Amino acid sequence: MKCRKCGAPAAINMREHKLALCREHFLEWIPEQTERAIHHYRMVERGEKILVAVSGGKDSLSLWDVLHRLGYAADGLYIDLGIDEGIAYSSKSRAFCEQFAARQGLTLRVVSVPETYGRSIAEATRLSTRGRKKPCSICGLVKRHIMNRVGREQGYAALATGHNLDDEAAVLLHNAMTWSGGYLVRQGPVLPASRPGLGRKVKPLCRIYERETAAYALMRGIDYIYEECPFSVGSSTLYYKDVLNRLEEDRPGAKLQFYLSFLQAKDGGLFALNASGEAELHDCVTCGQPTSAPGKCAFCRLWDSLAPALPLPQDGLREGDGGQGEMGS
Ligand code: AMP
Ligand code: FES
Ligand code: ZN
Ligand code: ZN
Repeated sequence: MKCRKCGAPAAINMREHKLALCREHFLEWIPEQTERAIHHYRMVERGEKILVAVSGGKDSLSLWDVLHRLGYAADGLYIDLGIDEGIAYSSKSRAFCEQFAARQGLTLRVVSVPETYGRSIAEATRLSTRGRKKPCSICGLVKRHIMNRVGREQGYAALATGHNLDDEAAVLLHNAMTWSGGYLVRQGPVLPASRPGLGRKVKPLCRIYERETAAYALMRGIDYIYEECPFSVGSSTLYYKDVLNRLEEDRPGAKLQFYLSFLQAKDGGLFALNASGEAELHDCVTCGQPTSAPGKCAFCRLWDSLAPALPLPQDGLREGDGGQGEMGS
């Protein structure tokens, strides 16, 4: 297998993109793709200060590295959750973040949950009386709270997390299995700062496969923690990732298509339906028939694109035109 750009032996074959690249070109390709996503979803502008939430894992450290290489002003935030029973998960992952920051000469902010708030995640889970009995759910809540607080207090324009395509597709599948409308409406590459006190959140790696971020970290020589958090064993996200990997195995690109079609459907008004289940309709500016998007209907857009234009019939329906406009049957 050869690199598509230079013909040298390929270091990675991405069946999902029908693309094989050598090490050098793959290390260029990942930042290019990330930059595209940043622009496409209008995540951040150049010069804006970004806070990257780093966990010590491959995704978030790769993200920090990519943003730095692209010239964004990005500081890191590590939240030490005090999960140190057994494999010393928190201490180890913190060390990877500190080592990365020191090597690259970047600023890392560290917030220790036990030191700042007096309790570790395990203790908070044990003592919780509020129905949250799983460490991961308490942990998620605590992390979101701290990320938002630090982002605001320190004047960052956006908080970036290392969520990759596999993470996003797994969450999407989970939310779709339970039709969690509230979560589905909010899921996406950017969560805008919808009210004062709530910062913008962005996921620049949302279109990058987990396998690709792992390869990037490896080829860039980024050391990261291989172990998963001990509390994540048997988590539903891991289960859904596994299911999606099996789909991907048969149909390379399936994960990306699943996620991107969801975003497209949302853009197209999937969640803007009225109570009777119909999308809000507009009158086509050319023919007057109902259409889901303002402006011209799909028929008029199609006809406009066909040259040379024929005059539309003045009376009666064309043969085969059921008069359904944009609404389908
Ligand atoms: P996870 O929920 O563990 O899959 O992590 C998703 C993203 O949240 C990571 O890519 C990081 O950006 C961020 N994150 C997770 N754990 C931490 C942590 N302890 N400190 C800072 N950011 C974190
Ligand atoms: Fe939060 Fe595992 S990292 S419970
Ligand atoms: Zn090459
Ligand atoms: Zn609060």
